Amino acid sequence: MKRIGMLTSGGDCQALNATMRGIAKALYHLYEDDVELFGFLDGYKGLIYEEYVRLAPLDFSGILTKGGTILGTSRQPFKLMREPDENGLDKVEAMKATYRRLGLDCLYVLGGNGSQKTANLLSQEGLNVIGMPKTIDNDLWGTDTTFGFQSAIDIATHAIDCVHTTAASHNRCFIVEIMGHKAGWLTLHAGIAGGADIILIPEIPYDIENVVKAVKKRSSRGRGFTIIAVAEGAKSSSDAAMTKKEYKKRVKEMLRNYPSISYEISDQIRESTGLECRVLVPGHMQRGGAPNAYDRVLSSRLGTYGAMLFDQGEFGRMVAVSGHEITSTPLSEVAGKLKTVPPDADIITEARMLGISFGDQ
Ligand code: F6P
Repeated sequence: MKRIGMLTSGGDCQALNATMRGIAKALYHLYEDDVELFGFLDGYKGLIYEEYVRLAPLDFSGILTKGGTILGTSRQPFKLMREPDENGLDKVEAMKATYRRLGLDCLYVLGGNGSQKTANLLSQEGLNVIGMPKTIDNDLWGTDTTFGFQSAIDIATHAIDCVHTTAASHNRCFIVEIMGHKAGWLTLHAGIAGGADIILIPEIPYDIENVVKAVKKRSSRGRGFTIIAVAEGAKSSSDAAMTKKEYKKRVKEMLRNYPSISYEISDQIRESTGLECRVLVPGHMQRGGAPNAYDRVLSSRLGTYGAMLFDQGEFGRMVAVSGHEITSTPLSEVAGKLKTVPPDADIITEARMLGISFGDQ
């Protein structure tokens, strides 16, 4: 009997359930009744404290289209994994003990950056681990894309679409703030899909003068409204020149006056142009709801590939996408790296050719 565990870790996203279903269906296909599945509750917490449910084929029925995660999730920072909990429990040893007590043959970790770091740690500690690439941010190293990303693009794009019509009616400047503190993939894609005029992402520091110039240029060409897609972690060039400590302090100060960077940018544009400005923050909506068709297919493919890796005894790897192929990358290569938008990427050049300003020129 094969005994297999799975957990969903970190911020949730669409298609977590679809991915678990893909893994489970393929395992049942490969081993029929000779496989037993265990689901750990609330991410690594369930593995640490031995909180789990036994999963049967029926548990995977009807979840392809269901957002969120049937197992629950939580953030368990990697940097705290080596620190004992409030009762002195060694978390890494506790996770290994749970794995061994249940006699598991493999653990699937559906997670983003931090979660895959811990997956790599567990793999180095001798557990058979397979990572599954989750995040709406698409910032996981070692894979071209992640599940959740395309569904989030749809939602953020819909937000921009809705704002477009009202911005045009009122001749307003609208800022749509899109998730992504360190990587601008989601903002970039939703911005292009939604026809944003200006896109500000962490990887390309902006100068507010250039942003204002782009807004004024539109006005001078008879366009009364402007749509700006701003990533949560967008940075001005002076922010980007700061040390980590200085930037932290600057953000703290900014947050005393504004709920987020978009509101500061909105004020700066209003002061320089006299235009009416509004901010829309779709926030966690971007992680919610049903996965789109693309993510359902992707997750199903990733899941079945994950089952094949188990069948071939290939552990310590994260299932990944390379071009149109599903493949895998060693967890040791994924751990601790971030995939950000290269400022010289083709898609940036193409966006510029569409007349989109990144606020840097
Ligand atoms: O999952 C990643 C992410 O969506 C980021 O883009 C966002 O800033 C963050 O999660 C918000 O997470 P939380 O659930 O902790 O508010």
